[in-house]
Order: sequence, then structure tokens, then C-alpha cells
Amino acid sequence: MNDDFLRALPKAELHLHIEGSLEPETVFRLAGKHGVALKYPSVEALRAAYDFSDLQSFLDIYYAGADVLRDEQDFYDMTWAYLERAQADGVVHTELFFDPQTHTARGIGFEVFMPGLKRALDAAAARFGISSRLVMCFLRHLSEEDAFATLEAATPWRDWITAVGLDSSEVGHPPSKFERVFARARELGYLTVAHAGEEGPPAYVYEALDLLKVSRIDHGVRSLEDPALMARLVAERMPLTVCPLSNVKLCVFRTLAEHNLKTMLDQGVAVTVNSDDPAYFGGYVLENYRQTAAALGLTRAEVAQLARNSIEAAFLPEAEKQPHLARIDALLAAG
Ligand code: HPA
Ligand code: ZN
Repeated sequence: MNDDFLRALPKAELHLHIEGSLEPETVFRLAGKHGVALKYPSVEALRAAYDFSDLQSFLDIYYAGADVLRDEQDFYDMTWAYLERAQADGVVHTELFFDPQTHTARGIGFEVFMPGLKRALDAAAARFGISSRLVMCFLRHLSEEDAFATLEAATPWRDWITAVGLDSSEVGHPPSKFERVFARARELGYLTVAHAGEEGPPAYVYEALDLLKVSRIDHGVRSLEDPALMARLVAERMPLTVCPLSNVKLCVFRTLAEHNLKTMLDQGVAVTVNSDDPAYFGGYVLENYRQTAAALGLTRAEVAQLARNSIEAAFLPEAEKQPHLARIDALLAAG
């Protein structure tokens, strides 16, 4: 597939943990800046440790990496670096996940990270014309009480946050654990999303839909095990934010060629392609499109459909989606 075509397609990135965009070089720079001791002697040694066997083995390193984020400028620099990569990849709209509890647990409050994230997003809108939203994720291995406290702590920043999400260790922490938190979040006007069906069973996807009333399922690849669930996802045009390189790195699929993305697309599911934690999983969003298209033999029309799905699934007003969708049609028609 022509790389210019993949890059030129207007894409929305809908599943990106901003803490997962922290490159090893930046981890070392910030560790030096703040005098934080690292477990690894060099950038190369840290990168070599990115050899994961499952979700938890990744999360352990990911949370350790985030410990070097200490001041507002660190959050700005990390976010700006991601946005420069996104711009180069043809991303026109991005919805960033952030994990407040990873920071508040270390004494780094909303007043530190929120302005850093927002300042970078505003700069990207002005400089690149990239639109954005923020999605605040609760860490599901922590308690319901802790999630409620996080929702409360976000009150002064309510207007900057579009949706709440659910991430971290999935198995053993079903969506039902956060039913009441999400109900309160919806009362406050937040939209909702949740990671479900990455390592967890289809039952977790049902819970995310029925109990958390999500607008999108993050990952959701195990939905294919349940034909009734697949039929529902198609009928409701429920978007899945799939992250192919992540799935291979975390051993959800053995190889990209064995990934079920094309099967789900063929069955009519609103699948999108995203990078998840690009600094850890070997590629930003364009690399995910590139490698997935190659491994699964996707046609130009199929790749255009993935981009179209991403724009349609974005938390943007319809009028802002239209120019992007028209551009996708024009690029496809231009052959
Ligand atoms: N799954 C769950 N939690 C996460 C992920 C993921 O893919 N990335 C960052 N936190
Ligand atoms: Zn994720």
C-alpha cells in the first residue's frame, strides 16, 4: 500500500494513553532533571525491557516510567512530543486518555498535569489545526472509593474533560465494579468509554455496554468469541478502538497476521486503528495502519473505511466530521 495514501488519510486517534507516549529517551532526561533513580542503566537497557508477556508485565514498567513526570513542563513536553508525531502521521483529531491516579498517588495533583496537557493541546490546535478531547481514565485495579475521589478532584477541570474511561488490569476488575462511579459521571455530563475484551471475556464487553453505557469499547477484540455480541456491536454501530501493535506486544495475538481486525471489519463492526501506548509497543498510529494493512492484506477501500470509522466515532460535532469524511472520499476516488 502506498505510504502517502495512508499518511494523507485524515485519521482520528481515539485510544492513546498519553503516559504511554513517554519515550525511553524522555524517561532518562526527566529522571536526570528531577534526580530520580531508574532501575535501568541506559536507554538501551530500558528499551530492551519492553518485552512483555501480558498486560500486567507492561503495566508494571509503564507505571514505573510515569514516575519521572513531576512538573507542568514535563506533561507539556510529553504531550507536545506526541502531537508532533500525530501531525506527521496525518492525525487530524485525537482523544487522549490520561491516568490521574498514577500521578495523584505520588503527590502530583490535577493542578500540575491538567495545565500541561491543555497547553500542549491548545498549541497543537493553533499550530497544526489538530482538534482534541481529554478522556480521564480510572485505574480499575484500585477501589471504587478511589475512583469517586478522582471524579471529585476533577471538578475544577470539568470543562476540559469530555469523557471518563476505565483502564489498567482488566481480568478480575469487571466494569460492574465501577457502575456507580460511571452513573455519577454521566449525571455530571461526561461521556463514557471503557477498556473491555482486551484480556477479559465478552461478558465484560456486555457490562461496559449495559452498566457503564459506553459510547465506544476500547480494544474489544475478544467480542469475536460471542456471535450474539458481534451482532449487537454491528446493529448498534458500536465503535471498537483496536490497537493492533499493542495486541501483539501484549500477546493477545501471536502475530499481526493472526489479528481478527479484518474479520471484524468484514462482519460490519465499526473498527478503528489506534496506537495505545506507542512508546512501548513499537509504533505510532501510522505504523499501526501500515503494518496492519500489510499483514492482513487490506485494500485501499478497507483502510479508508478504518479512517472513516475513526472520524465517525470521534466526540466531535457532525459539522466538524464532514470535511474529514469528504477528504477521505476524495483520496479514495483519486485512486
Ligand atoms: N489496557 C489496559 N490499561 C492500559 C493499557 C491497555 O492497553 N494501556 C495503558 N493502560
Ligand atoms: Zn489502552
